[in-house]
Amino acid sequence: MKFFVDTAEISEIKELNAYGLIDGVTTNPTLIAKSGRKFQEVIAEICAEVDGPVSAEVASIDYESMVREGEILSKIAKNVCIKLPLTMDGIKACRYFSNKGIQTNVTLCFSAAQAILVAKAGATFVSPFVGRLDDIGQDGLNLIGEICEIYDNYENFKTQVLVASVRNPIHIVESAKLGAHVATIPAKVIKQLAQHPLTDKGIETFIKDWAGTGQKIV
Ligand code: E4P
Repeated sequence: MKFFVDTAEISEIKELNAYGLIDGVTTNPTLIAKSGRKFQEVIAEICAEVDGPVSAEVASIDYESMVREGEILSKIAKNVCIKLPLTMDGIKACRYFSNKGIQTNVTLCFSAAQAILVAKAGATFVSPFVGRLDDIGQDGLNLIGEICEIYDNYENFKTQVLVASVRNPIHIVESAKLGAHVATIPAKVIKQLAQHPLTDKGIETFIKDWAGTGQKIV
């Protein structure tokens, strides 16, 4: 399972990249606004830091403008992945970029029906939002299962399932069990994956017992 980090904060990306955990980055207009920085500058900086795909989202919602903006964004770096909204215009723009060999991430996917369209458009990634479905009382992980099952049925569906709107480690573990290719995860949740109270307790005991031996590893 590949890990993307869901952030536009370069300091978070640098910190996690040092652990060798990051296979890519996703951003969105909300994360860019939160960073308070210039969109294209942030994307260029992230692309220089990370080798994998860096999703940069178009701002417009009509086909012609999405193509124009996507063309500009794709010139920032080789690893820019054009992020497009899941609308008929977004699907058309996805096909345009897929035909040009430019990576695409179709975002705001909330149903298996939508995910089928995305695969038909030749997208590199589809982003189903698990957390936002959970928030409205629907089962986000169930959608991941449905999409993985459908995509597995067709060899010509090459689109990778990119689990988005991740809120906790359970979303990651269950998505991995379902065979999702990628998860885009907030930095906080990536760190939560390492946590277990028995690990902390074990370390405490080992430190105490080791000190009792009076030895040193030299
Ligand atoms: C995905 O690409 C989105 O940027 C992100 O996962 C949305 O998450 P949210 O629902 O926490 O805003």
